[in-house]
Amino acid sequence: MTSYYLSPDLYELVYADMVADIAPHVAAAKAAGGPVLEVCCGTGRLLIPTLEAGIDCDGLDVEPTMLGALRAKLAARGLHAALHSADMRSFKLERRYALIAIGFNSFLHNLSQDDQIATLRRCREHLAPGGCLQLMVFHPSAEKLLEWSGAESFVKELPLPDGGRLRVYDLAHDDRVEQIRRMTRRLEFLDAAGAKTREESLTFDLRYIFKPEMELLLRVAGFRQWKVESLFAAYQDASAYPAGQGPREGDHLRWSAWGASA
Ligand SMILES: C[S@@+](CC[C@H](N)C(=O)[O-])C[C@H]1O[C@@H](n2cnc3c(N)ncnc32)[C@H](O)[C@@H]1O
Repeated sequence: MTSYYLSPDLYELVYADMVADIAPHVAAAKAAGGPVLEVCCGTGRLLIPTLEAGIDCDGLDVEPTMLGALRAKLAARGLHAALHSADMRSFKLERRYALIAIGFNSFLHNLSQDDQIATLRRCREHLAPGGCLQLMVFHPSAEKLLEWSGAESFVKELPLPDGGRLRVYDLAHDDRVEQIRRMTRRLEFLDAAGAKTREESLTFDLRYIFKPEMELLLRVAGFRQWKVESLFAAYQDASAYPAGQGPREGDHLRWSAWGASA
């Protein structure tokens, strides 16, 4: 299986500043009032705060190294969750859930409509009566699609635990017909004096989805009711963002969908 992010450690370093989605995720899990499944749970950036809030939440991911890192973190914190090593397109579990959540753009790792619909169907089949599927995905923006395409751009610089700095650069190649974005990411590690000590690069693909297409996918997968809201504007200060705002391009959207009347 392809490792999307090279290693769990690198994944966590690159996304150490991604915190804006944690509170809304935990709030939705709490409000579900029943067991939660996080599909594509990775190393637990969302799952750990959910468990710490006392919520019964299972995790599922296809990448054994990500799950291994999560298992170690749960053990170190004395937390417990059923973790399933499985593919979102084909998983089969005994349990039924009040909420199934696929956070942080992970649904966009489905690169074809067949894969998208298979994942949505698997999720719908694992919902308890009245249960809800929530997907958090960015909505493509014409401006951002052009801005990152074809030339490498500096994205951010983050502090490292050893006192050094991590610089992140992205280069996107967009197939704007198939809606596939191939991201090539370069990571530069600097020591405390600013000298480069290491460089890594990784590549992963995403298939971005426009709003009417997501509505059609949900419909085809057997969902009967859905709503969409903007959670926060990508690349902006989330605290300055009005809650519950309708979808705008470039925003991180939260889709909620029900298989039967909610
Ligand atoms: C962007 S990370 C999100 C991880 C975590 N939910 C978070 O918010 O930090 C995407 C995760 O999806 C997982 N993934 C990718 N394709 C998958 C698939 N087909 N089935 C299950 N997990 C998959 C990757 O292994 C990775 O852990």
